[in-house]
Amino acid sequence: MSGSESAAMAVLTAVDDVRAWRAGRDRVGFVPTMGFLHAGHLSLVHRAVADLPGRGSGVAASVFVNPTQFGPQDDLAAYPRALERDLELLRAAGCHMVFVPLARDMFPPGYQTWIQLDDVAAPLEGERRPGHFRGVATVVAKLLHIVQPSQAYFGRKDAQQLAVIRTMVRDLDMAVEIVGCPTVREPNGLAMSSRNSYLNDEERRAAGVLYRALTAAAAAWRDGQRDAEQLRRVMRVVLDGEPLALTEYVSVADADTLRELERADVGALLSMAVRVGPARLIDNLVLGAQPGPDAPGGTVT
Ligand code: PAJ
Repeated sequence: MSGSESAAMAVLTAVDDVRAWRAGRDRVGFVPTMGFLHAGHLSLVHRAVADLPGRGSGVAASVFVNPTQFGPQDDLAAYPRALERDLELLRAAGCHMVFVPLARDMFPPGYQTWIQLDDVAAPLEGERRPGHFRGVATVVAKLLHIVQPSQAYFGRKDAQQLAVIRTMVRDLDMAVEIVGCPTVREPNGLAMSSRNSYLNDEERRAAGVLYRALTAAAAAWRDGQRDAEQLRRVMRVVLDGEPLALTEYVSVADADTLRELERADVGALLSMAVRVGPARLIDNLVLGAQPGPDAPGGTVT
């Protein structure tokens, strides 16, 4: 395509058009999203733009609220959407192409091929949201297959999702590098999420408790506490101190396998799911990780 493309951004709906766009480039960075973009999503785009400068490369994103990763009790119908705004933000961030597929093209009647992972997708989110990771793995595999990126960018905020995708890419010999990026947070530590739009001011304030619980456990760990059950207890105590928060689980697990640990060493994943008002929020932190470069306020991961 022409040099004027740096200003324009292709917005494509058809798979064939995406393939034609891809054919003109040797390296492509790709950021899959469900839209309603915030600074967390955009940090992934910025990273892709920084990694893939110059001619011959391109940065692509997708906006697709994937129905197959929502359960019957989930918020598919309510999930926030703002496509025009998303496209504007992606253009301003330096994205060259956005794939906006239709659900009826991605999962037409008669669709029957699914990617299902065993152990890594079983606990935590997998246990509370049956079928969720089957939907995530399948749509991500399809998107990677269509866009054929050299690199794909995912947030560490969704730590189990990242582990599921890394495992899938390894198991299926997919020729793509998976890049995990730091969690971007609000000033009170709340991890940015499209679902934060469900919160009122009071709930948004209360939702800061997730990060407080994570950092309290990390502080106990820095002080020498290695007993994973004690670290879980620290998180539960902090969460229980917030009346608007209802804890679903707290976990201290291996970051790659998601298996619960008895002893927490460097690299262990602290994670949690907590209901605050109408929103189900997840967050996590890796023990011993350095502060993330794009996390405001010097927050970790
Ligand atoms: P979505 O929730 O829109 O998130 C898209 C990407 O942005 C994911 O990789 C997610 O981890 C990352 N992200 C979200 N909040 C972030 C934050 N505060 N800081 C850094 N990164 C953040 O995750 C999905 O969509 C879907 O499951 C998807 C992978 C697109 C498959 O449908």
